[in-house]
Amino acid sequence: MNQNSSNGMEIDESLYSRQLYVLGHEAMRRMAQSNVLIAGMRGLGVEIAKNIVLGGVKAVTIQDTGKAQWGDLSSQFFLREEDLGKYRVDVVQPRLAELNSYVPISIYKKELQEEFVSDFNVVVLTNSSIEEQRKIADFCHTKDICVIIADTKGLFGQIFCDFGKSFTVYDDNGEQPLSYMVANIEQSELGVVTCLDDQRQEFQDGDYVTFTEVHGMTELNECEPRKIKCLGPYTFSIGDTSKFSSYSRGGIVKQVKTARKIEFKSFSESLKSPEFVISDFAKFDRPAQLHAGFQALHKFVQSNQALPGPRNEKDAEKVLNLAKEIDSENGAADIIKDLAMQATGDLCPMQSVIGSIAAQEVMKACSGKFMPIVQWFYFDAVECIPADTVLTEKDCKPKKCRYDGQIAVFGEKFQEILGNQKYFLVGAGAIGCEMLKNWAMIGLACGSNGQAWVTDMDIIERSNLNRQFLFRPENVGKTKSATAANACSQMNPKFNIYPQENRVGPETENIYTDDFFENLDGVTNALDNVDARIYIDRRCVYYRKPLLESGTLGTKGNVQVVIPWVTESYSSSHDPPEKSIPICTLKNFPNAIEHTLQWARDQFEGIFKQAPESAEQYLKDSKFVERTLKLPGVQPAETLETVKKLLVDERPAKFDDCIMWARKLFEENYTNQIKQLLFNFPEDYTTSSNTPFWSGPKRCPHPIFFDASNSEHLDYVVAAANLRAEMYGMTERADRSYIQKYAEKIKLVEFVPRSGIKIATTDSEAASANDDGCADEEALQRLLSQIPNCQQLDGLQIKAIEFEKDDDTNFHMDFIVACSNLRATNYDIPTADRHKSKLIAGKIIPAIATTTSLIVGLVILELYKLVSGQKKVERFKNGFINLALPFFGFSEPICAPKVEYYDKEWTLWDRFDVNGEMTLRELLNYFMDKHGLEVTMLSQGVSMLYSFFMAKNKKEERLGMLISDVVRKVSKTKIPTHVKALVLEICCNDRDGKEKFSFLAETEIFERLVNFSKLSFAALRQKHTLPDLPYDYNALEPYISADIMQLHHSKHHAAYVNNLNNAEGAIEEAKSKGDLNTVITLQQVLKFNGGGHVNHSIFWQNLSPNGGEPTGDLLEAIKRDFGSVEKMKAAISALAVGVQGSGWAWLGYNKDRDRLSIAACPNQDPLQASTGLIPLFGIDVWEHAYYLQYKNVRPDYVNAIWNVANWNDIENRYNSNRKIETRQ
Ligand SMILES: [Fe+2]
Repeated sequence: MNQNSSNGMEIDESLYSRQLYVLGHEAMRRMAQSNVLIAGMRGLGVEIAKNIVLGGVKAVTIQDTGKAQWGDLSSQFFLREEDLGKYRVDVVQPRLAELNSYVPISIYKKELQEEFVSDFNVVVLTNSSIEEQRKIADFCHTKDICVIIADTKGLFGQIFCDFGKSFTVYDDNGEQPLSYMVANIEQSELGVVTCLDDQRQEFQDGDYVTFTEVHGMTELNECEPRKIKCLGPYTFSIGDTSKFSSYSRGGIVKQVKTARKIEFKSFSESLKSPEFVISDFAKFDRPAQLHAGFQALHKFVQSNQALPGPRNEKDAEKVLNLAKEIDSENGAADIIKDLAMQATGDLCPMQSVIGSIAAQEVMKACSGKFMPIVQWFYFDAVECIPADTVLTEKDCKPKKCRYDGQIAVFGEKFQEILGNQKYFLVGAGAIGCEMLKNWAMIGLACGSNGQAWVTDMDIIERSNLNRQFLFRPENVGKTKSATAANACSQMNPKFNIYPQENRVGPETENIYTDDFFENLDGVTNALDNVDARIYIDRRCVYYRKPLLESGTLGTKGNVQVVIPWVTESYSSSHDPPEKSIPICTLKNFPNAIEHTLQWARDQFEGIFKQAPESAEQYLKDSKFVERTLKLPGVQPAETLETVKKLLVDERPAKFDDCIMWARKLFEENYTNQIKQLLFNFPEDYTTSSNTPFWSGPKRCPHPIFFDASNSEHLDYVVAAANLRAEMYGMTERADRSYIQKYAEKIKLVEFVPRSGIKIATTDSEAASANDDGCADEEALQRLLSQIPNCQQLDGLQIKAIEFEKDDDTNFHMDFIVACSNLRATNYDIPTADRHKSKLIAGKIIPAIATTTSLIVGLVILELYKLVSGQKKVERFKNGFINLALPFFGFSEPICAPKVEYYDKEWTLWDRFDVNGEMTLRELLNYFMDKHGLEVTMLSQGVSMLYSFFMAKNKKEERLGMLISDVVRKVSKTKIPTHVKALVLEICCNDRDGKEKFSFLAETEIFERLVNFSKLSFAALRQKHTLPDLPYDYNALEPYISADIMQLHHSKHHAAYVNNLNNAEGAIEEAKSKGDLNTVITLQQVLKFNGGGHVNHSIFWQNLSPNGGEPTGDLLEAIKRDFGSVEKMKAAISALAVGVQGSGWAWLGYNKDRDRLSIAACPNQDPLQASTGLIPLFGIDVWEHAYYLQYKNVRPDYVNAIWNVANWNDIENRYNSNRKIETRQ
């Protein structure tokens, strides 16, 4: 390691913040010491240089002897037509230098010689002859200079790496070190460590670990890293511990990343016996074939002084023969002819892909961060050319135009098609910038009939400049879309790009209208949030437009292609839901820095945002009090109490008051509350089962006593006092030393803990505590009378503060860091520095330019396929990459799932189009007559227009009305004028539908019906929603098939949710009309669908591909109440098999008796409402849960399901519902 931190080399955190979270300070410092040479300044060289300069190395030298020519302009984005004939390095140098003022760029216009390259740490060769590659690379090998060779030929690319004879990798995967809490450590030869069972350990054999906070076996604390062997989901061995003291309790085990050495072969050696990193597992033979092919190309150039001509059959034949000479087996592959025919091609997306991977290798070489490519990498995208295309030499010959490099590969006709595309880009951030660059370079929407739109409402910030490469420091504060569009128009003046600043959503559907979307050829997302992605996805499905979707996270990225009528859509698959922190952990029992940071954020929101918001509304909004009094439970009193405090009791008159307030807050949070907690649960407190209360994940806290000379204590008071002053719009402030002196003098009354204070130890306790109490009318009125009205408070201003993590002068992050670290200190949790705190509390997504560029390259390759009219799913590639490993994976997009009714297939791309106005009755008849479907419910967004159970008189009235009038009436809104069609959802039965109620998916269809008028998709949001599965549909195979899971979740459960929402809406409506009969009738519908929703929501959680076995208290309870786990399983299985018709079998918990019990329920009757038992584990024995796989052999299904029982979840349900422990 070097000593950069001490020699004044500071990393500019505000510029590099997102990248720092990927690489870390240490790697960035090593990069800032590295001198890099990049040879060749055509498209590939400039792509590598751009990424390296953005990344921030000590210095970059660009070498090139050539002048700009037409062939460069298809991919060299820093060359313009007026630069033709000038030296490439001269033109490029100032444009590269603009990207990052920390990186000086030198130019070199001579041929490369050994002596010259010996000054560099890393040498990159592009567009280099094999003689030069051999000469330079072999020389560098002897000098331990890292060499990277990169090349692209049309749709083919290669990378070679040699980082010397002994290269050190400090971090081979880029993941955070794993860390778990210890439950036990055996004193034995094997040294078995058991972790707490709240989380499965994810160590791998051979990982190294060390320990902290172990009691008893203290020899392990801060021990030298020990190699482990994994034994089970919670256990691993660390080798002999028999000579150590015996373990008593506690401990945290933490993974230690160990450096590893890698030996590289020299270029010449490696050329003969190559080692490959696979880029696509569907093309397993390809690397060896292309290895021969690229060498053959070099040989061809040696004897012909030129590359083989585009689509020249003779030249291609020659190259193939040369390849066979090099490798008789792999060299005989047909693909080599394709390589030869495209060899003069230069494609911007290919260079994005190869250039960004190569740039990441440069950064690895500089820093030792992440695993390098050892040693050859080949990639191709031949599928971009449709299989049936016949291209001739004439089609592909140079036209002396900027697209010559692309025409060489795809031909002239394709160029024209590209030029006339109409595309919509949503987002002009990192991905958006790269996308626009590629669009301009490939000539998308650059023809006379082409048009492209980009929308982004953001303005440019400094932290964007590190990877959103179209933006310069002088653009900070300007809009992203216009700045990006302008930069790309300079790259290609023919680019017909229209920048806009609209948020995409229902509110802009008068801008992005039917006409707008129908005119498009496709849409590309460059978004950073799921909601907007889902919205655009739904629009694309509605208008049946292809969508290119992509995203990055640090070194990881993915690409998804959505093709109308072919693939599933973006919304078809769900990401697993984000894990949330239990409330009790946050409030009283934090054990990790994530918990204290979340607490700090909550403090900020509560104190500086929500509370002043209430006060502000009280002052400005005359309806505020009325609204507040209508809130449930204790909320009115709490809200008014808060307002009174802010406006009356604690209103500061001068800055000193703010210091006082902050000092008191410190006392309350870090001293008093902890004292009270320890009063209720002293350090040696034991639970009723005689285990120490402060054990496992509960860390015993200690109070902190304010000390003005402790900088962390003072940080807190300074930040809190300043924020307080800002909230009140005070201009008066004081400096740190004044605040210190003032705070020092403050004397507070010592807090004495009180008895009778309840502290929740589980989330269910916390929840029930919240339900307690209700508003006392008299007390509320008294409270109100104590708050003066607006006039009496003469001009008092109060303002809510919006959290902003990126401004280092606003005290926001100062407050969060101090607030979190003080609490961490309370609980002896290791504190986090500002940088790490910002990542976690600010939910920052780490990002690096290389990943973005690579992902966009892959997106554009898919765009080529879409534009060329390809439809076959096997030609397309969804991509998943991780540059740190490095890993490259591609898969065929998933086809749109099909359902059937009668003999018709139905996918998400299908809908019934109904033209012209008709009455509701006519519509129902239309479906019966034309499609044989009986509509049972019809809804439009949240409005239910019709249902089989609605009141008769209302039904009669509506049946005679026009659909659009029904919509107006029910939704009580006008249909906007831009709306030309309505989206309606129907539930329907087929002709024999009602008899087989358990086969919902076969008898009911929930799809969109279109016309009359159209509705915004966001309005489809409903009260109850279908929860995401915590695993993939195929995760429970072989025990439960993916087909069943998908149908069960996305159709059956969705149906319950839908019907529940509809029933609730209908009940509300009936209630408002005083129609009691309907209300009572609907109760059955509510019970059935509500039960279905409740039961299934538990059921998904109850299952898991790795759910473990019963342990702990639950295991004891099972033994006590059933004799053994096997007996318990047998009892529930027998019950499940015996359920008549459809229903559920349950393991439940009888809270009153503190006993486990089993019960069966018919239909969807919910367990707790029917029997009082708290559901722990349920088996759904409706046929829809197993029939597809097990047919009518229910016992097989019931036996199989135990293999995927999620005992972690069952235990959690059990533990969180156990009786509250009370003090003896
Ligand atoms: Fe079910």
